[in-house]
This record gives sequence, structure tokens and C-alpha cells, in this order.
Amino acid sequence: PQDWAGKHLLVTAGGTQEDLDPVRYLSNRSSGKMGYALANAASQRGAQVTLLSANVNLPIPTGVKVIPVRTAADLKDQLQQLFPTMDGLLMAAAVSDFRPVQVAEHKLKKTAAGEEMTLRFQQNPDLLKLVAAHKRPDQVVVGFAAETHDWRQNALHKLAAKQADYIVLNDVSNPAIGFNSDDNQVTIFGADGFQEQTPIETKAAIADHILTVINPKDR
Ligand code: PMT
Repeated sequence: PQDWAGKHLLVTAGGTQEDLDPVRYLSNRSSGKMGYALANAASQRGAQVTLLSANVNLPIPTGVKVIPVRTAADLKDQLQQLFPTMDGLLMAAAVSDFRPVQVAEHKLKKTAAGEEMTLRFQQNPDLLKLVAAHKRPDQVVVGFAAETHDWRQNALHKLAAKQADYIVLNDVSNPAIGFNSDDNQVTIFGADGFQEQTPIETKAAIADHILTVINPKDR
């Protein structure tokens, strides 16, 4: 179906990186597969899609405009600039919750043998929460939750705390359906009380399912 024709969707994918020094960074295991599957499915269904891609090494889906980002700060700048012009946001990127308090100007040197090293971190802003706070009623905001335990409780907490319309819960404790896998199984929670768990299926099929659930025309 071309049920997203005429709509402009912003999708985020991949994992942000936070620099420790000129040669090292801290990141996470997101491959970008889920976000790219969403961008591809939305484009196939007629949407104009802009994809903010954080450190992903995958082919660009046909018809999708990709803007590369590296850090959470880059992602924040792009989100704040682009979100007001969009009909919806699908926030599949894994954003670093913390960044080092200081980025060393020069490469950090080895300390004496056996000596411990301590790094200090400060919190990054919650980007989803920042943009969702300025959401218009005509915009749909979909967050993702990557959880290893207390799945349902954590997802419902994120749905409320981030003021998203939907949270898509991912169980990243199971390698068959987590980071970098081709398959996934999610539970979609809506702010209106909607709840649905998908079967285990490809990320492409999950993406299609999410796009159907969040489209008011399809429900
Ligand atoms: O990329 P793949 O290998 O295919 O794996 C898919 C996935 C597991 C990465 C993806 O489906 C997923 O779950 N993405 C969300 C990862 C995440 O950061 O989850 P979270 O529970 O830490 O964050 C919740 C939501 O807040 C997310 O939408 C996240 O983008 C957003 N967030 C988080 C922290 C932060 N500082 N700012 C944010 O906006």
C-alpha cells in the first residue's frame, strides 16, 4: 500500500559514538538494521524519508535521504532542525546516555603496569524527550526501548517519561532478536493503551508492522 504517501518521516538508526581521545570512543552494539528496515519500508509505502544514520555500514535504502551523524550532539542538532518539518519520528537509534566529562586532546597513554584507570562521565540529554516535548498533535513520535530485564515495566516507564505516542520494546538480552540480528520480536505500546506483541520475524516485516500500527489511516 502507498498509505504513507504525502508524509515526511524522520528515522534514526545506529549507535552514537562519544570520544574519549582522538583515537578512542565509546559506543554500543546497534548495527542500524532496525532503523534502515523502517526507512526502507516507509519509503516503499510512499513516504518521503530522511534517515539520520549514526555509524552504520549498510546499503542506503532506495529513495531515502541519509544524513550521517556521529555523536549524540550531532544527532541532537539534526533532530532539532528537522523534527518541526516532519509528520513523524521513528527513533530507532541507540543514543549514548553518557559522554566523557573531558575529551583528551592527545591520545591517552598507558599507565604503569597493573594501575587502574578511571573515566568520568556526564549525562547526555534525552533527545527523544527533548523533541517530543515540542510535538504537534499532527505529528507521531515513536520511541524504541532496548531492555535486558523488567521489559514491560521499563517500556511503559519510557512511554510516559518521554511523552512518545508509541514505544517499541526490544529484548536485547536475546541475541537471536537483538542487536545486529536479521530478526526481531517487539511489543508495541501506545499512549492510548494499545498493546501488541509481534511474532519473531524479519526486521523488514517488523518495520512494516510498526508502520501499519502507527498510521491512523490503518487502524
Ligand atoms: O540496530 P540493530 O542492530 O538492528 O538493533 C536494533 C535496536 C535494538 C538498536 C533498536 O531496535 C532499539 O531498541 N533502539 C533503541 C535503543 C536505545 O537507545 O534504547 P533506550 O531504551 O536506551 O532508549 C529509549 C529511547 O530513547 C530510544 O528511542 C532512544 O533512541 C532514545 N534516547 C535514548 C537516550 C538518549 N540520551 N536520548 C534518546 O533519545
